[in-house]
Amino acid sequence: MRLPNFNEVHFWTVDELPISSALCLLLNDEEREKHARISSPRVKHQYLQTRLALRHILSLYHQKHAPSHWQFEKNVYGRPALLGTDFDDGLEFNISHTRGALVIGFARAGQLGVDVEFTQRQARAIALADRYFSPTEVQQLMSLAPAHQKARFFDLWTLKEAYIKACGMGLALSLASFSYRFSAVGIDISFTEQREDDAQRWEFWQLRLSPSHQAAIAFASPEQGSQSSLFGFRLCDWNQAQPQELELLRCSERLV
Ligand SMILES: CC(C)(COP(=O)(O)OP(=O)(O)OC[C@H]1O[C@@H](n2cnc3c(N)ncnc32)[C@H](O)[C@@H]1OP(=O)(O)O)[C@@H](O)C(=O)NCCC(=O)NCCS
Repeated sequence: MRLPNFNEVHFWTVDELPISSALCLLLNDEEREKHARISSPRVKHQYLQTRLALRHILSLYHQKHAPSHWQFEKNVYGRPALLGTDFDDGLEFNISHTRGALVIGFARAGQLGVDVEFTQRQARAIALADRYFSPTEVQQLMSLAPAHQKARFFDLWTLKEAYIKACGMGLALSLASFSYRFSAVGIDISFTEQREDDAQRWEFWQLRLSPSHQAAIAFASPEQGSQSSLFGFRLCDWNQAQPQELELLRCSERLV
């Protein structure tokens, strides 16, 4: 498996794969302890799928290393990253999971965030947006016909999560400090004065993964000014990848 170039994002979806006790031996002590502490069977299973998928994909990129080789660290906001590799390729990843979907994005040395949401869930769209989103986003949402509000809410939610995850800060970054604007196929971001960032650094993609799952990707490439490319892959067996066509809903204007 070829590593992403500096202006590429690899977006992986992970099939529901069988987990054996032998596979659990690939986890490190910390992961095994965390797994033992999780009480919900659903979350326990999701945790194993995620750890195993990440390890196997990393070993597809670096075939000389077994899936058990990889070690991880977290930043102060909880974002995991690779720890102490013997090669300096700047490979970074970001994970998102929800009911029925696990996705992992990979890039080199930029800032990358991914988010997937189950869009059939009950969501009090206006109330949540009012609490978390920026005033202009709430205004846009309320100007839509009620039948379109839920879809727009998930457009915003996935993209907002992708950006705060790309920044590595999660909800420590205010969701009201930046706003998205949509055209028919395009996405633009702007920032309030409290958030120092440059909209030109960022590229976004919005994907439909299934009738019930929507994903978003936020990426600031280390090769600024270049136009990045998105490639889809599917982990269809623990050691097997397939290219995957992605259903694009919208992307940044400059990618159109
Ligand atoms: C933790 C958070 C970064 C993402 O949470 P989430 O959307 O519930 O969950 P996701 O599945 O998309 O992402 C979880 C993964 O993000 C990664 N992650 C954790 N902290 C992160 C951070 N600070 N930055 C980037 N990625 C992070 C982890 O890999 C985690 O998976 P893992 O624990 O299996 O390793 C944070 O944004 C959060 O808590 N969001 C809550 C959602 C919410 O209430 N949104 C309000 C909108 S209405």
